[in-house]
Amino acid sequence: MSPAGLLLSSLLLVCCLLPPGAQGQEFSLRAELPRPVGPAGGSFVVNCSTDCPNPRVITLETSLLKKPVGSGLRWAAFELSDVTSDSLILCSGFCNGIQMTGSSVITVYRLPERVELAPLPPWQPVGENLTLRCQVAGGAPRANLSVVLLRGEQELSRQPAVGDPAEATATVLAGRDDHLANFSCRTELDLRSQGEGLFQNSSAPRQLRTFALPMTPPHLVVPRLLEVGTTFSVSCTLDRLFPASEAQVQLALGNQKLNPAVESHGDTVTATATATASAEQEGARDIVCNMTLGSDSREARENLTVYSFWGPILNLSKSNASEGTEVTVTCVAGAGVHVTLDGVPAAAPGQPAQIQLNATERDDGRNFVCNATLEVDGEILHKNRSVQLRVLYGPKIDQAKCPQHLTWKARTTHILECQARGNPDPQLHCFKEVSWTKVPVGVPFTVTLNYSGTYSCRAVSSRGTHTVTVVMDVQDRNPHAVTVAMVVLTTLGFVTTAAALVFAGPRRRRVSQDGGRRVRYSPAPAEPGDWGRG
Ligand SMILES: *[C@@H]1O[C@H](CO)[C@@H](O)[C@H](O)[C@H]1NC(C)=O
Ligand SMILES: *[C@@H]1O[C@H](CO)[C@@H](O)[C@H](O)[C@H]1NC(C)=O
Ligand SMILES: *[C@@H]1O[C@H](CO)[C@@H](O)[C@H](O)[C@H]1NC(C)=O
Ligand SMILES: *[C@@H]1O[C@H](CO)[C@@H](O)[C@H](O)[C@H]1NC(C)=O
Ligand SMILES: *[C@@H]1O[C@H](CO)[C@@H](O)[C@H](O)[C@H]1NC(C)=O
Ligand SMILES: *[C@@H]1O[C@H](CO)[C@@H](O)[C@H](O)[C@H]1NC(C)=O
Ligand SMILES: *[C@@H]1O[C@H](CO)[C@@H](O)[C@H](O)[C@H]1NC(C)=O
Ligand SMILES: *[C@@H]1O[C@H](CO)[C@@H](O)[C@H](O)[C@H]1NC(C)=O
Ligand SMILES: *[C@@H]1O[C@H](CO)[C@@H](O)[C@H](O)[C@H]1NC(C)=O
Ligand SMILES: *[C@@H]1O[C@H](CO)[C@@H](O)[C@H](O)[C@H]1NC(C)=O
Ligand SMILES: *[C@@H]1O[C@H](CO)[C@@H](O)[C@H](O)[C@H]1NC(C)=O
Ligand SMILES: *[C@@H]1O[C@H](CO)[C@@H](O)[C@H](O)[C@H]1NC(C)=O
Repeated sequence: MSPAGLLLSSLLLVCCLLPPGAQGQEFSLRAELPRPVGPAGGSFVVNCSTDCPNPRVITLETSLLKKPVGSGLRWAAFELSDVTSDSLILCSGFCNGIQMTGSSVITVYRLPERVELAPLPPWQPVGENLTLRCQVAGGAPRANLSVVLLRGEQELSRQPAVGDPAEATATVLAGRDDHLANFSCRTELDLRSQGEGLFQNSSAPRQLRTFALPMTPPHLVVPRLLEVGTTFSVSCTLDRLFPASEAQVQLALGNQKLNPAVESHGDTVTATATATASAEQEGARDIVCNMTLGSDSREARENLTVYSFWGPILNLSKSNASEGTEVTVTCVAGAGVHVTLDGVPAAAPGQPAQIQLNATERDDGRNFVCNATLEVDGEILHKNRSVQLRVLYGPKIDQAKCPQHLTWKARTTHILECQARGNPDPQLHCFKEVSWTKVPVGVPFTVTLNYSGTYSCRAVSSRGTHTVTVVMDVQDRNPHAVTVAMVVLTTLGFVTTAAALVFAGPRRRRVSQDGGRRVRYSPAPAEPGDWGRG
């Protein structure tokens, strides 16, 4: 029963009990409560007192547990215990045979049984409204109970508790600075005007996590084509993320998860991963970057073609071939690869290209190039290999470059020019027959009469020997035909030549042409004059 109802029924009860003349009573009876407001279940003292000089039977009409705690001539005091609800109390007594009554109201207060902030969303998007809801069960008197919603210690809203359970709400526009803020609600039972205190109860705090994720997809950087076995790197970047450090990134190539290193700087998150394409992934694949923050995610997807391009492998049947033997040059490559060996294309992609040749000295040092092409996703990819053939030949003395009959004048300077070629490089020496005296080859020397004779010029290498016979005919000069001036000039010329030769010295040069080798002894520039070969 409500306190008002209780009061009404008690009054009705008293009116009916009273005889008709009692209404105009001279003295009143007061029901005094030193403390009219108290906690539910507590006890209250009621002092029924009157100014009637000789009152009788002062009593307290109540259904509550009562016990007398003292009385005087014009008063009687009672203690009511275990008062759990607001109650009307009624004192009654008699004065000169006339009944007197007096009433008063006991107000009990009760702290809320439950103060609870409804769970917050696990993640709240920045820029969206968040509704905080607080539920309060119990608590009395409601008229003095209010609910306060708080962000940390900051009061967001204060409203009276209406209904039971009462719900109080507040709407906040979530911002970045609300991230990790603690929200709570508090009830305030304010009984200070009734001489009691201010009683507060708080809910457990709830921490909010806010996030911001732009609508744009991440920026994904990947190669378009990827060769099996090669290591590649992928990067995925997104900015304007909050809180960037909380972003989760997933990177996957087909169904292979990549393990990215994730870094955040300010509002930017970058995930990078390196991986090696495997043969099983050959074909068209997609690579996906998924950035998750809070309750949302953004995805970027790129196409990538994994291909294998094996070869070209360029093979010589023998790398050092003897002159005259057959050599096979083969170029092979993987499926779908088209090879061209020295301009000779293979019959079809995936097929080898081959060249057969009889090794000649001109093939020594020859390079064979194999070009391989593969078309992947509309793009032509190239690879090439080259190999060098060595042909073993010689030794050979070039008869044209080694004059076999020389006619020279005595006491003049000449060069014995002779060249040999071969692989490996031959050694060339010229010896005079019988005496086996060596004559310099390719170096100037002064011819004397005893140089006359037959010479054996021999080129030697591990592959054999080639000999050419050279006849040197040295003729004595006619002394009468030479004037003193000529002798002086010749001598001067000789001195000059000798000096020039000493400075320049003989130079040995190796010249390689058309893959062949020539060994040549070339002197310093000779002095002009009549010293040429005869
Ligand atoms: C009750 O009231 C009377 C008169 O006001 C006073 O004399 C008396 O002391 C009171 N008794 C108690 C227990 O407060
Ligand atoms: C309310 O606060 C009081 C002390 O202020 C405490 O004893 C009581 O348990 C609290 N009630 C709830 C529901 O938290
Ligand atoms: C948030 O709620 C307020 C009113 O409480 C309203 O004016 C505002 O437009 C709402 N904002 C959004 C983003 O919903
Ligand atoms: C408490 O409620 C009573 C009765 O409604 C009212 O008179 C009093 O002013 C209230 N006190 C406060 C602090 O609200
Ligand atoms: C919120 O509460 C948690 C623990 O309850 C505390 O670690 C954190 O610092 C609080 N946050 C703020 C913004 O006060
Ligand atoms: C991104 O990853 C999250 C977490 O694994 C998942 O829930 C979400 O569906 C993914 N988003 C897309 C677009 O694949
Ligand atoms: C990837 O390829 C598919 C078809 O294979 C195509 O529909 C899609 O648009 C491509 N995506 C990109 C990002 O190029
Ligand atoms: C290349 O030649 C080597 C011998 O020189 C041989 O063992 C190898 O199998 C050849 N490879 C190919 C692809 O022909
Ligand atoms: C081929 O000859 C070169 C010297 O010309 C030598 O270094 C190499 O070892 C030889 N290779 C083979 C396979 O015989
Ligand atoms: C190999 O291909 C390149 C261009 O890719 C071309 O310049 C070259 O002539 C080709 N060589 C042969 C031997 O086919
Ligand atoms: C190599 O020489 C042989 C005989 O000497 C000849 O039958 C063959 O056709 C030659 N091969 C090539 C590719 O010239
Ligand atoms: C062969 O490939 C290399 C790079 O691998 C390139 O530098 C060279 O130019 C290519 N040669 C030809 C003839 O295509």
